[in-house]
Amino acid sequence: MGGDLLVKNGRIVTPWSVREADILIRDGVIERVGRDLNADGAEVLDARGLLILPGGVDEHVHMREPGLTHKEDFASGTMAAAAGGITTILEMPNTVPPVESVRELRRKRELLRERAYVDFGLYGVLHDGNVDELAGMWEEGAAGFKVFLGPTTGNLPAPSDSTLYEAMALAARHGFTLAFHAENRGLVEYFTEKVRGEGRRDYEAHADSRPSICEEEAVSRLMIFARRTGAKTLIVHVSARETVELLREAKARGLKVWGETCPHYLLLTREAHKKYGSLVKVNPPLRDEEDRRSLWKALKDDVIRTIGSDHAPHTPEEKSGDIWNAQAGFIGVETILPIMLDAALRGVISIRKVVSLISYWPSRIFGLYPRKGSLEVGGDGDLVIIDPGAETRIVAERLHSKHKLTPFDGLSLRGKIRYTVLRGRVVAEDGEVVEEKPMGEPVSPLRR
Ligand code: NCD
Ligand code: ZN
Repeated sequence: MGGDLLVKNGRIVTPWSVREADILIRDGVIERVGRDLNADGAEVLDARGLLILPGGVDEHVHMREPGLTHKEDFASGTMAAAAGGITTILEMPNTVPPVESVRELRRKRELLRERAYVDFGLYGVLHDGNVDELAGMWEEGAAGFKVFLGPTTGNLPAPSDSTLYEAMALAARHGFTLAFHAENRGLVEYFTEKVRGEGRRDYEAHADSRPSICEEEAVSRLMIFARRTGAKTLIVHVSARETVELLREAKARGLKVWGETCPHYLLLTREAHKKYGSLVKVNPPLRDEEDRRSLWKALKDDVIRTIGSDHAPHTPEEKSGDIWNAQAGFIGVETILPIMLDAALRGVISIRKVVSLISYWPSRIFGLYPRKGSLEVGGDGDLVIIDPGAETRIVAERLHSKHKLTPFDGLSLRGKIRYTVLRGRVVAEDGEVVEEKPMGEPVSPLRR
């Protein structure tokens, strides 16, 4: 189910250029890109003065369905994505039950396909007991696999080093990508006990219970495994400057080890706990100004390749109260692109870099390119159309998630998302979802 749409007179943005061009989408697929195209019966959208980017690909969301739908569900979560210019999401597997087998992968996909307002891929999980399932799940269309090395929402058992090695060797053989929550479990447990034992109850105690050595150790171990196996390795939610240095080294050595960071690590530090308390409790924790700066520098140097939201909703009750009992994570899929556009329109990074971080690299890393995250002829007609002269004010109440706790409430940003187009159909306009029926479809990596 795709639409026919001609977008005229806009400026199209790719990782390499910004230029004036029309885009003709036919049956949901980009048919032509060029000057003075004719509609031939397609609907016409005049984009004079507007920027046209490939739809965003958010490789890191937790939409909580099945099993945790009191936090979020697939309809509300994908509506939030559509309103925020994200046309493809990769959904994390720490739902209930976890996506640990071919059976669960199929079940989750069938459950979600009727409820998706954007296209979606599904991660399987690797834990200590299911390495034998990976090849089958990959065959069945999994987008990749998530590995939780440290304790976090869902408390899935981290794989042993031998399981990890086996999984990474399989990844190299089959060509799938592994995405890592990289924190050393033993160290997290040690520091948590220590800091709790001191009787601390202040909000920043969470940050001290998971210091950056936890992340640094896990990432350096993964680099060894990646070098020895050749597995495609994505370190998600990079928070620490030490990790940035490791990724710099990985890049210099030509390893297939990539980093993702998130808007909260770029905008906030642990100081934010003073204002937001446990709302900004997240794993890994918010860190220091020096870390924050090193992440921005890593974006400029192409050392961090992608930005994901780590959209991780919880109810207000689950987020409130004691720092030790509050759940980790908060929403973000609807604000990731507006926040990065603002950075571009203020001149902090280029608009081409935004496309590279939010569309191009996530698609590349997960084998979705050029069907997703590109404006190439033959790719899906997924676009986000932006007015660079207008402004956006983030108002939590207007977001589409079930629960609207966000540290970005009230932010004023440059630029405004006017339209989100999914396979040739306008699915959101000026922050509202306009497509009545969910038309999202499952996507799988291209095999080679
Ligand atoms: C995530 C969640 O709640 O699912 N929470 C978080 O703090 N980031 C899990 C995770 O990605 O670690
Ligand atoms: Zn994580």
